[in-house]
Amino acid sequence: MNRTEELIYKLRDTHSLSLEEYKTLITGRTPESASLLAALALVEKQKIYGNDVYVRGLIEVSNICRNDCLYCGIRGSNKNCDRYRLTGEDILECCREGYALGFRTFVMQGGEDGSFSDAFLTGLIRKIKENHPDCAVTLSLGERSRESYAALKEAGADRYLLRHETADKEHYEKLHPANLSFDNRMRCLRDLKELGYQVGCGFMVGSPYQTDAMLAKDLKFVETFRPDMCGIGPFIPHKDTPFRDHPAGSVELTLYLLSILRLIHPPLLLPATTALGTLEENGREKGILCGANVVMPNLSPASVRKKYMLYDNKLSDGAESAQSLDSLRKRMESIGCTISAVRGDIIK
Ligand code: 5AD
Repeated sequence: MNRTEELIYKLRDTHSLSLEEYKTLITGRTPESASLLAALALVEKQKIYGNDVYVRGLIEVSNICRNDCLYCGIRGSNKNCDRYRLTGEDILECCREGYALGFRTFVMQGGEDGSFSDAFLTGLIRKIKENHPDCAVTLSLGERSRESYAALKEAGADRYLLRHETADKEHYEKLHPANLSFDNRMRCLRDLKELGYQVGCGFMVGSPYQTDAMLAKDLKFVETFRPDMCGIGPFIPHKDTPFRDHPAGSVELTLYLLSILRLIHPPLLLPATTALGTLEENGREKGILCGANVVMPNLSPASVRKKYMLYDNKLSDGAESAQSLDSLRKRMESIGCTISAVRGDIIK
């Protein structure tokens, strides 16, 4: 057995490696070690989730953002971004449509739009919960105060997604403007967990300046923070951002990391992300076959979908759209998986 294979078995058996070992596991990868890792990841996933794939209806509530993250197409200073904000009624209508299609989780994702006050959001969350008491409400609205997170939880929000983006402070500062801090991002994640949310963190693969040592830190962070969900996808450049000329991240490395994450924490909810599907025709299917167990089709109104362009060519129709759930179902069945119409909470 070579060193990489030894580390793969060690990870499966102990769910933990040192930073140095994670780095070796990443740097020393080969097509053979990737196949072994994916096979072991699938076994662990199946023990907990069988062949079920969970779906979430993603509602992109606003592309208005006060932040200016260097990688992101909806960054505040992008003058070419055509801005929109859904109304409460628009969002409730998306939920109604999603419910009829079989979704039992709604994810409200958006830029950090100052008009989403606690009063607005708590009212909206209460209405969604009243209309659909059997559904989970997930928020992905960026950094807020602890008090705000507490109020949204109190109103009925179940889960919160906030990618940490990178677990390396210096790297964080290269991806974000000076008014955003790594420490505040970590504070948010800790607050969310303490308040009782099911929490999702995550990072981009192949973001500018990223090294294998930094990815090792991301893995160690997931190992120690123990989120309920972790969203990862390749970085994809957007033409109206400072990172326009940086190369996209690799599908191959993203798949490898998905398998590692499955072995770090077998119950983890792991989405096969839109970015993965954008870079490769069967990217999401490959993600599922490497250990992912969640997909998040787009439930936003068709009229705004093309405006939520985080990166160039972001998929928004076909199997990506919630209305094409049948086509997604067929794609999943072609790889032996079933889409399940449940809330899809983590099984601990
Ligand atoms: N490429 C890939 N992912 C991106 N995101 C933002 N911009 C890009 C990009 N250019 C991801 C970030 C963010 C999530 C909503 O989308 O990780 O947290």
